Amino acid sequence: MNEDLKAEITKLKHEKHATILVHNYVEADVQDIADFIGDSLELSRKAKENQAEIIIFCGVRFMGETAKLLSPKARVIMPAANAGCPMAEMCQAEALRAWKAANPEAYIVAYVNTTAATKALVDICVTSGNAERIVTKLDMKRPVMFLPDQNLGANLNRKLGLNMMLWNGYCHTHNRISPDDIRQAKAQHPDSSVLVHLECKPEVVELADAALSTAGMLTFVQKSNAKSFIIGTEEGMIYRLETLFPDRQFYGLNHPILCPNMKRITLPLVRDALLGKGLEIQLSDEIMTKAVLPIERMLEMS
Ligand code: 13P
Ligand code: SF4
Repeated sequence: MNEDLKAEITKLKHEKHATILVHNYVEADVQDIADFIGDSLELSRKAKENQAEIIIFCGVRFMGETAKLLSPKARVIMPAANAGCPMAEMCQAEALRAWKAANPEAYIVAYVNTTAATKALVDICVTSGNAERIVTKLDMKRPVMFLPDQNLGANLNRKLGLNMMLWNGYCHTHNRISPDDIRQAKAQHPDSSVLVHLECKPEVVELADAALSTAGMLTFVQKSNAKSFIIGTEEGMIYRLETLFPDRQFYGLNHPILCPNMKRITLPLVRDALLGKGLEIQLSDEIMTKAVLPIERMLEMS
């Protein structure tokens, strides 16, 4: 049944001149029919060089919006209309506008996990794949606000000895990972390297061998001599790693780490999106013009 659906999707994709971009966290079946699978940074780069008429974006809404900003001529369709990122919603444009009015001198660094309306108000974007590289180059004599992820911001502050102000957002999925989860996994698999996402709390990052973006995890495994790894991020990543590195062993934590929004994207919805359903990303001209600037700045610096 899935094989028939996969064949139907491939046929429709060619007929409609569409490309399918998929984030590393999405269901295994959907990863299998992707034209490209990656982290937020890689997906942004792919969207920028896109030539297809339609992008079927299998990720959460802020990722689809970023694709639209970077590929304005393409129609960007989200198969699951309700796949959002709760962390992105934790910094609404209205709240940021008020904060900026009270802090006009601040330079604003936005994690790419923000709405397009919020991006239109910030100086530069970063992803977890390039945050360290970019933040290191900024003029820290000015007050700097990092938003919305307080964990990513705190991890950067700690590692780089910075004092950025932090918005109080976080990712429910990663914030749930505790130091005890990591200790238990290490006790069960003592020879494994521990990789966690940079959205985890600093006290979790402290116990890991590396804190990375999802693409950073792939590179780490590729370069590592270790035979097995404990993976502290959304479970879709484990399928991705197993597919690329069948000779290595990957362990999750003692409870499921799931992003319910990423898991809303299914093969039938991808097929339906190619048949004209799904949610098309529409942004006003003003947001298109303003929100692309911090993303372009990020791509130039990364
Ligand atoms: P990556 O850029 O590392 O893929 O992370 C995106 C994200 O939303 C992680 O929760
Ligand atoms: Fe957003 Fe967290 Fe899901 Fe990533 S894992 S998309 S940050 S809710």
